Amino acid sequence: MKLAVVGAGIVGLTTAAGFAELGHQVECCDVDAGKIGQLASGVVPYHEPKLETLVRRNAEAGRLRFGLDPEQSTSQAEVIFLAVGTPSGDNGHLQLASLWAAADKLGAWQGGRPRIVVIKSTVPVGTAERLEARLRGRLPPECDVRVASVPEFLREGTAVRDFFEPARIVIGAPDPETFERLELLHRRLPAPIVGTDRRSAELAKLAANAHLAVRLSFANEMAALAEQTGADYPAIAHILGLDERIGPHYLGAGLGFGGSCLPKDARALVRLADEAGAPQTLVAAALRANAMLPLRMARKLEAALSGPSRRKVALLGLTFKPGTDDMREAPSVRLAAVLLRRHPGIVLTAYDPSAGENAKRALPSAVRLCDSAESALRGADAAILVTEWPEFRSLRAEDFKSWMRRPILLDGRNALDAEALNAQGVVCIGIGRLPATPADFPTGSAANSLEWK
Ligand code: UDX
Repeated sequence: MKLAVVGAGIVGLTTAAGFAELGHQVECCDVDAGKIGQLASGVVPYHEPKLETLVRRNAEAGRLRFGLDPEQSTSQAEVIFLAVGTPSGDNGHLQLASLWAAADKLGAWQGGRPRIVVIKSTVPVGTAERLEARLRGRLPPECDVRVASVPEFLREGTAVRDFFEPARIVIGAPDPETFERLELLHRRLPAPIVGTDRRSAELAKLAANAHLAVRLSFANEMAALAEQTGADYPAIAHILGLDERIGPHYLGAGLGFGGSCLPKDARALVRLADEAGAPQTLVAAALRANAMLPLRMARKLEAALSGPSRRKVALLGLTFKPGTDDMREAPSVRLAAVLLRRHPGIVLTAYDPSAGENAKRALPSAVRLCDSAESALRGADAAILVTEWPEFRSLRAEDFKSWMRRPILLDGRNALDAEALNAQGVVCIGIGRLPATPADFPTGSAANSLEWK
């Protein structure tokens, strides 16, 4: 089948390369000339495991081509995927300017079977219907167009795997013929295909991300309660996860959720729900709880150091999660801002194996970016593990003790073996766990109070 994908971000590019791998002829376009130039020479301009190999292989085989002009790139396509960004506006609404701009550039064609435009971007409920009306209003009557919603659930860092092994494929189609054509296109992927109406498909995407957000905030609040009451949250998460009605995923407590989707989609759902008269109070509360976590970590640091002003503190890991170079809504950014605001004399060093220029752009300029964990940790009075990159697990107690002025480590992701480190003289304090050295680190109201100073 001839396909086109508008938007070469992680979702668009993975969709384009994935369908090319399945044997389709795919044209992928983007307004960013720099990105298209890099892709045309086989370079994927962001960190996404396995995607570059997939892109190169299919470009070399002639099944995947790149362009800048949506009209040209989509001119022969039977199915056109729109995978452009829908960022948050100030009020939480998803901004659809790129979606309308892309749709307005689709050219006319010579009759034949209806063309299918698939919305992959996350959009408010009702967008597919609006888009179809807009296209029908603009295109000549012989250009029959159907708009479907096939939301994308892939995660950054495992996007390629998620494309080829999705948990489910949701096809929100306007009519049985459109559903059948899209079902045929997706049939080779090993996943249940759920056919539904377009509004349900659109809301399902928002609901999935909002559900994860609620679950994560539940985990983080439960971890705080474990700290207050002298219980061990990782043990509790394990116990919860063994219940098959609950399951083990997304119960990891830490510095909270970030990235380009979860917070944005949860905000969008709250806004949409308020307007629809069916408020999503749980989701709104999950967002508020998530926003407090960097402050909570700052207060832990204050308790551990008895005043971090003029102290040197190292941040280990900056991206919103491991396996990506994405700094969008990364908890590290808010944590750095909170620490600098509360302690103007503090010296913050930071190291991330992948964030590179994205970290420079996202973090306050006062943060000193280092090129290794060792250089960030040298002379530090404390360190906060912000993102659980695997390389931090290979740091030994000796490393912390010899590089740092005081080996105090706040493990913001429960990624390290706190007991082993504590036994070897490192003060390692996890999330939702009792501190190993109660004399150094108070639990109870001092550590857990969340009032802003
Ligand atoms: C998410 C959804 O998972 C995906 O289905 C959707 O298509 C896009 O949004 P992604 O943004 O890649 O994917 O992030 P994800 O892996 O879901 O993690 C989201 C955040 O939750 C990260 O900040 C991560 O660190 C955090 N997280 C995840 C936890 O704090 N604890 C956990 O147990 C799991």
